[in-house]
Amino acid sequence: MLVNFNEMLQKAKAEHFAVPHFNINNLEWTKYILEECERLQVPVILGVSEGAAKYMGGYHAITGMVKGLIEDLGITIPVCLHVDHGSSFEICKKAIDAGFTSVMIDASRKELEENIRITKEVVDYAHERGVSVEAEVGHIGGTEDNITSEVTNARLEECIEIVEKTGIDALAPALGSVHGFYKGEPNLDFERMKLINETLPVPLVLHGGSGIPDNQIKEAIACGTSKINVNTEVQVAWSKAVREFLSADNKAYDPRKVIGSGEKAFKEKIEEKIRLFGTIR
Ligand code: 13P
Repeated sequence: MLVNFNEMLQKAKAEHFAVPHFNINNLEWTKYILEECERLQVPVILGVSEGAAKYMGGYHAITGMVKGLIEDLGITIPVCLHVDHGSSFEICKKAIDAGFTSVMIDASRKELEENIRITKEVVDYAHERGVSVEAEVGHIGGTEDNITSEVTNARLEECIEIVEKTGIDALAPALGSVHGFYKGEPNLDFERMKLINETLPVPLVLHGGSGIPDNQIKEAIACGTSKINVNTEVQVAWSKAVREFLSADNKAYDPRKVIGSGEKAFKEKIEEKIRLFGTIR
């Protein structure tokens, strides 16, 4: 069933676990994620970056693919189809009009006032259509969709202001995590995470979930994180398996065998994260 993320994240916040957000890039990965989450009976958020949306053909193609897989595979768990880092109102509108059930509007590189203005515009459009909205405050840096940027940590007052003025459903405060690989140990501000969580009713989102040691992930969940985004670690697990397959068989050419050679490693990584996040109830 395609749903927005409100019910799953409110439950996660109340019961101190996190819902996984995995990024999708193609039919195979979407199928693997749905099959694994159905097997483990956990809700899931499928994240689609702008680059991935372009790669897959567009928002209608993705909605059709996800709905078709849910139907054909007999998926019964709640599935949220979510725009990851939508850069404008227009992008979010396009996805919502095509049937996405959730969007992240990321105006975090703009001044707070402008971030709030754009986010509110998205919230007004989305909420009228039953679509949930996530927004970012501060700036989560690192490398995402081949774009690299610096980290700016979120301040509590900014978080309060954006939540109160826009009515967003989830907040991604930048608190030291980065997209892609970390240089050295991640340095997350857990104290501020806890304070933001205790001050605000909205569930918190942790971006850059790859490469954070398990004990820090557990601490983030204890400090109120209810949604954790993972992309790079899954990509690395899949591509490593495919590379091994291709170097062991230099005659392989069937795309189903090539892409499928990463399925086992991909699914193992998905299960590892779900168990770590405590999503299995
Ligand atoms: P990683 O690629 O670091 O796992 O981050 C994913 C993410 O935050 C997507 O929004």
